[in-house]
Amino acid sequence: MKTLYFITGNKGKLLEAKKRFSKINFEIIQKDIGYPEIQADSLEEVALFGVNDIQKRFDKPFFLEDAGLFIDSLNGFPGVYSAYVFYKIGCSGILKLMEKYEGNKRKACFRSVIVYKGLNKDPEIFIGESYGLISKISIGDYGFGYDPIFIPENEKRTFAQMETDEKNRFSHRGKSLNKLINYIKN
Ligand code: IMP
Repeated sequence: MKTLYFITGNKGKLLEAKKRFSKINFEIIQKDIGYPEIQADSLEEVALFGVNDIQKRFDKPFFLEDAGLFIDSLNGFPGVYSAYVFYKIGCSGILKLMEKYEGNKRKACFRSVIVYKGLNKDPEIFIGESYGLISKISIGDYGFGYDPIFIPENEKRTFAQMETDEKNRFSHRGKSLNKLINYIKN
C-alpha cells in the first residue's frame, strides 16, 4: 500500500482524508509536527507559508490543509480567522452574530485549500468549496469545528449529522481531496 503524509494536528481532518484515500488504497499517515499559521488575507498564503516551513525539516512527500468558514452577511467573517474565532466564541457565538438574519441572508461557504509538496517539485494547490446555510441551532454529533451549524446546499442536515463518508461527498475538503487524488493518480 502506498503512503502519504498529512501534516495536521486535527483528528477530524485526518479521519476525512484517511477515509477518502482508503478508496484508492493509499494510507494516510499523520505527522503532527506543527507549523506557523501566519495571519494573512487568504487561506492559500497561510497554507503555502506552512509548506515552506515544513519542507525545511521533512523530506517525504506531504500535504497540509487550511480551511475557513466565510459567511456572506458578515462580509466573509470569520474566514481566515476561523480557528481563532472558533476558539474564542465557538458555534454558539456565530449563531448569536447571525440571530437577525433569515433565509438567504444565512448563506455561507466553507473553503479548503490543500497544498501538496512532492519531492523536488513545486507545491501544488487544490481548492474545494462547499456552499450552504448557517443553521438556526447547533445540531449533530459527528465531525468537528463548525460542522454542527453548517447545512450544505440541497440538504436539510448539518455536516455534524453526517458520517464521514457522507460529509466527504458534499464538503469543501472532500472536493479538495478529490482533486489531490486525481493529481496523484496521474
Ligand atoms: P484550520 O484549517 O485548522 O485553520 O481551521 C480553521 C477553523 O475552521 C477551525 O476552528 C476548524 O475547527 C474549523 N474547520 C475547518 N474545517 C472544518 C470543517 O470541515 N468543518 C467544520 N469546521 C471546520
